[in-house]
Amino acid sequence: MRVLIISAHQSFRQQVQAACLRFDKTTVSIRTAESMGQGMELALQFEAQLVFLDLTRNHEAGVLSLEQLAHVKNRLVAVSADKMGTDLMARAIRTGAGEILPQPVVDDEVFAIIEKAMHLQSEDAVMQPPRSGKSIMCFSSKGGVGKTSLSCNIAVALSGIFGDKKVALLDANIQAPNIAPMLDLRPVSWLKDAVAEYKRLDSQLLEDFMTVHAASGVHVLAHNTNDPLGVDYTEDQLTKILLVSKGTYDWTIVDTFPLLSSLNLSLMDLCDEIILVTEAVVPSLRSAKHNLDILQQAGYGENRIRVVINRFSNFEGNISPELCAEALGWPIEQIIPYDVHATIATNSGKPYSQMYPDRKITASVKELVEKIVGTHLPKDQEETALDKYWRQFKNWMDI
Ligand SMILES: Nc1ncnc2c1ncn2[C@@H]1O[C@H](COP(=O)(O)OP(=O)(O)OP(=O)(O)O)[C@@H](O)[C@H]1O
Ligand SMILES: [Mg+2]
Repeated sequence: MRVLIISAHQSFRQQVQAACLRFDKTTVSIRTAESMGQGMELALQFEAQLVFLDLTRNHEAGVLSLEQLAHVKNRLVAVSADKMGTDLMARAIRTGAGEILPQPVVDDEVFAIIEKAMHLQSEDAVMQPPRSGKSIMCFSSKGGVGKTSLSCNIAVALSGIFGDKKVALLDANIQAPNIAPMLDLRPVSWLKDAVAEYKRLDSQLLEDFMTVHAASGVHVLAHNTNDPLGVDYTEDQLTKILLVSKGTYDWTIVDTFPLLSSLNLSLMDLCDEIILVTEAVVPSLRSAKHNLDILQQAGYGENRIRVVINRFSNFEGNISPELCAEALGWPIEQIIPYDVHATIATNSGKPYSQMYPDRKITASVKELVEKIVGTHLPKDQEETALDKYWRQFKNWMDI
C-alpha cells in the first residue's frame, strides 16, 4: 500500500506516519509532502493509493487538490483539518473525500483508514507495480567534506554493477555545482532545461537532458551557475525531476549544497538513503550531529541514514572512528581514508575509483556500495603488471 501524507505541519505528518508504521514496512510504503504542489506531483509519480490530506493551512487550495487527488480510481483520500466544521466536512465529502480523519490524530483511526484502503485495492486486483528506482543523497551541511567526490564515485561503482543507462547522477547543488568539471563533461543540456520543462517532464525528455559519462555509462543531469534568465529552483521543480529520474533509472544519486534547507529536505524526503558525509574533525562532527538531530526529528531513522567519515587519516591525536560514533550517537558505516590521489583525480576530471582502482579509497567506496546494494560484489580481477603500467601511463598522459 503506497501511502502519501500531505501536510504543512510536521506534527501531523509524524503522527500519521507513526500510526502507519504499525503496519509491516513491506505492506505500507510512506511518502510525505509539505506542500500541496509537491503532494500533487508525488501522488502522480508515486501512484499513491491512500492520501492523507491535511487542509489546515489552506482550505481552498486543499479542496482544489482534493478534487484532483480523488479523481484516480481506487485511491482513497482521507482529509483532515485542525478545526473540521460541518461545512468543510460536507464540502470535502462532496468533492471526493472517502474518509475524514479528526485531529488530534488517533492511531486507531489511521489504522482503520489504511484497512479500508487495502480493502478497496483488493476489490480490484489491478495493482500498479511499485516503482523500482532507488535514490541516494550525499549530504552534509559542512562544505568541502567530499560530497561531490563521493556522489560521483558511488554512481560510477553502481554503474559498474548494474550497467549503462541504469544510474543517474543529479547535480542539485544549485549554489556551487561541480559535477561537470569533476567528471570532465561538456554538457549540451543542463538542470535549468529540465526545470524549464518540469511540468511536462517524462523519462524520455529527462534522458534527452542527460550527459553520458562515457567512461562509466552514468547519465548526468549537470548544472552550472551561468543562469542569465535567473531561473528560480523550487522544491516542486526539483522533486519532480527526482521523481521522474527514479521512474527512469534503477539508481539516482543526488549531489547537493551544504545547507539543511527546505529544498534539500524535500529532496531527502524522496530519497531512500541519505549518506551523511563528515570528517573526523570537531567542526564537521558538530555539524553532522546537528544534521542528525534535525533529521531524526523529521522522522529519519537509522535505516535511512548512513554516516561516512571521509578523508580519514590515522595520525596520533586524531579523533578515532569509535569516538566519532559516540559523539554522533550514530554508527559509522564507512571510513574513507585521506588520499592525495582523490585530489589528483579531481584535477584530472576523473573519478578516483576509475583512475586508481587499486587504492584504498576505491576499495572503501566499493564496500560502501556493497552495503547499499546489500550484496557482496565479486572481487575485481587482479590487474596484471602490464595493465597497471598501461593505466598509469594513461593517467600520466591524461588520456
Ligand atoms: N578521501 C579523500 N582524500 C583526499 N581528498 C579528498 C577525498 N575526498 C575528497 N577529497 C578532495 O576534497 C575536495 C573537496 O571535495 P568535494 O568537492 O567532493 O567536497 P564537497 O563536499 O562536494 O564540497 P562542496 O560543499 O563545496 O560542494 C576535493 O578537492 C576532493 O578531491
Ligand atoms: Mg560539492
